[in-house]
Amino acid sequence: MRRAKISIIGAGNVGATTAHWCAAAELGDVVLVDIPQTEDMPKGKALDLMQSSPVMGFDSNIVGTTSYADTADSDVVVITAGIPRKPGMSRDDLLATNAKIMTSVCEEIKKTSPNAVVIVVSNPLDAMVQQAKKVTGFPAARVLGQAGVLDTARYRTFLAMELGVSVEDVSALLMGGHGDTMVPIPSCTSVGGIPILQLIDAARLEEIVDRTRKGGAEIVSLLKTGSAYYAPAAATSQMVEAIVRDKKRLIPCAAYCDKEYGVGGYYVGVPVILGTGGVEKIVELKLTDDEQVAFQKSIDAVKELVSTMATLV
Ligand code: NAI
Ligand code: 2OP
Repeated sequence: MRRAKISIIGAGNVGATTAHWCAAAELGDVVLVDIPQTEDMPKGKALDLMQSSPVMGFDSNIVGTTSYADTADSDVVVITAGIPRKPGMSRDDLLATNAKIMTSVCEEIKKTSPNAVVIVVSNPLDAMVQQAKKVTGFPAARVLGQAGVLDTARYRTFLAMELGVSVEDVSALLMGGHGDTMVPIPSCTSVGGIPILQLIDAARLEEIVDRTRKGGAEIVSLLKTGSAYYAPAAATSQMVEAIVRDKKRLIPCAAYCDKEYGVGGYYVGVPVILGTGGVEKIVELKLTDDEQVAFQKSIDAVKELVSTMATLV
């Protein structure tokens, strides 16, 4: 059976860690790409990772490169290229620099991997994925963004810590943009099948949601030299797995919503069914009035970000 080809653009913290998770889970062969100015760095990381395979017992080829020719005909392209946040920076501060990087990366992908499913990770996520769709011209189903799996994972972790239970038993959903307006959906949050509001009072739940919204900034303020990468990379590789193994996972991703939820042609975090074709279905939930108000606020923030980006690139 032909192995899937997974190219990861940006061999920094998130890119290299995503390569690690994907290779270790034998999701396919991995090509790790960075800019020529990094010289042999992607080659070094790829070789180092390959040399872990006899110890860890996985069979994936990992190649490091600065040439898009090596990425030709990828099944999945993950874009982590860009600059990360430093303390005091918001994701939106990254807009101008990363929009230019996203444009140049997508022009290459369009030529070399015209049939790939593209997962965007670079921030500000909701704007970057919109730009990726515009530049590649790929169908909306094949361009999506990673945010919801990470945000929901943070929320599940905090809930498990609060209740002293296994993270495995916490099931939850967050929607909306990857920013301060992300929207928890308490009606879709349960622990061992028990609705969350039977276990935690509403005020405490709101504090946990607030910590989740600020989850990325919390890691930035602790690391001081960059932003989170283990959990973002784990979230990204779960999406890669859903695509290359056609798992039909129902998970939150930044997907292009037009009529769905009345969004009108923007990327926003929604539950989707993810398989070989990329976003195979956007699942439309009936939101409560409060959830609908919060979701609309989040959509408005995404629209503002996209219109600011249009003035910069
Ligand atoms: P990093 O600085 O460790 O790595 C970024 C890499 O991109 C660097 O190696 C850099 O040389 C490379 N790069 C820059 N321009 C490039 C280009 N034109 N082509 C190819 N590679 C290029 O940063 P890190 O921590 O890996 O973060 C990457 C991006 O992901 C940031 O924008 C960050 O904010 C975002 N991020 C998004 C998350 C999400 O949930 N959506 C979570 C974590 C990070
Ligand atoms: C995060 O949430 C930086 O967006 C990234 O950690």
